[in-house]
Amino acid sequence: MEYRRLGRTELDVSVISQGCGGPSRLGQNTGVDQYGINELVRCGIESGINLFDTAAAYGSSEEILGSALKPFPRDDFLLATKFSYNDKGGLPNDIVGVDQVRKSLDQSLKKLQTDYIDVYQIHGLQLAHVDVVCNQLVPELERQKQAGKIRFIGVTELWGRDGDHRALLNCIPCGRFDTAMVGYNLLNSSADDALFDMCIEHDLGVLIMFAVRRSLSDIGHRRKLFADLARNGYIDEQVVEVDDPLSWILDHGVASITEAGYRFAMQPRAVSTVLTGTSNTEHLNSNLCAAGAGPLSESAVAEIRSRFGHIKHSLEN
Ligand SMILES: NC(=O)c1ccc[n+]([C@@H]2O[C@H](COP(=O)([O-])OP(=O)(O)OC[C@H]3O[C@@H](n4cnc5c(N)ncnc54)[C@H](OP(=O)(O)O)[C@@H]3O)[C@@H](O)[C@H]2O)c1
Repeated sequence: MEYRRLGRTELDVSVISQGCGGPSRLGQNTGVDQYGINELVRCGIESGINLFDTAAAYGSSEEILGSALKPFPRDDFLLATKFSYNDKGGLPNDIVGVDQVRKSLDQSLKKLQTDYIDVYQIHGLQLAHVDVVCNQLVPELERQKQAGKIRFIGVTELWGRDGDHRALLNCIPCGRFDTAMVGYNLLNSSADDALFDMCIEHDLGVLIMFAVRRSLSDIGHRRKLFADLARNGYIDEQVVEVDDPLSWILDHGVASITEAGYRFAMQPRAVSTVLTGTSNTEHLNSNLCAAGAGPLSESAVAEIRSRFGHIKHSLEN
């Protein structure tokens, strides 16, 4: 396993880490029970994964993860979780108060069966909320850091609605975050434009989400997404006529499109770790093998950029 520096936290993090949300939600949406998740987590830890990311908003994910990690010494892994700052999903004045932040943190600690969270993140920050979150909620997180319940403060974006990273680009300059979770994949690599340079400038640890998602792991989703891209003029109509619109990537020395997805996401210098949101131990093993092969070749990355580099909007994937 390769380990990378998680920005100014100075923690070493495995280049592949385990996500407990996404479409699979640590087995909650895929029918994998607690025993199956215990096996997934054991396999991850024994293979060198040392970061697990979850959230208060992922159903029972924190409890399931806390239970699966119980047999392992707390120093063997890093825990990242998140709180939902905008429960009503609306205007800046719908943002939760500091007492609710404390309550959410205490519930997460209990569910995860731990005394501290390594990286506590603001979940899905939106552009309209940057000022109020940075000025009202982050100071409370800093107090919780002083109290020893949090080691580092992070922020994640709402990439499904913010494909070109406006919230992160506007909040990182405040200098109060240690990590950023960024949406990035071979179909929308717009974080290459300015965001990754900003993360390097502020020495943030970067966690990648959406490396594969459904569009790179499921041919049905992929065909539908490419049909939408063609209909909206982002790619050539002829591309969607072939059986798999991404099959050309297999000529670049990769065995599968999912492998290409994870290896593409590992390649930017700013990236500390790529989350895999699988709930399936066989899939985890193949994703670990993909990571072991290192970043994609320069020629593959160049071809991906020339085909999709202009796509900067949110993709339904
Ligand atoms: N705004 C936010 O804060 C936010 C938003 C989204 C995600 N996240 C975090 O990022 C993590 C990663 O999420 P993601 O959805 O972006 O992860 P991902 O790894 O890009 O995609 C996960 C999907 O790919 C499938 N998959 C993975 N490996 C596979 C393989 N080898 N073969 C076939 N299918 C495979 C999974 O299904 P199987 O389970 O069947 O393998 C699942 O449907 C989440 O778990 C969460 O922790 C945060």
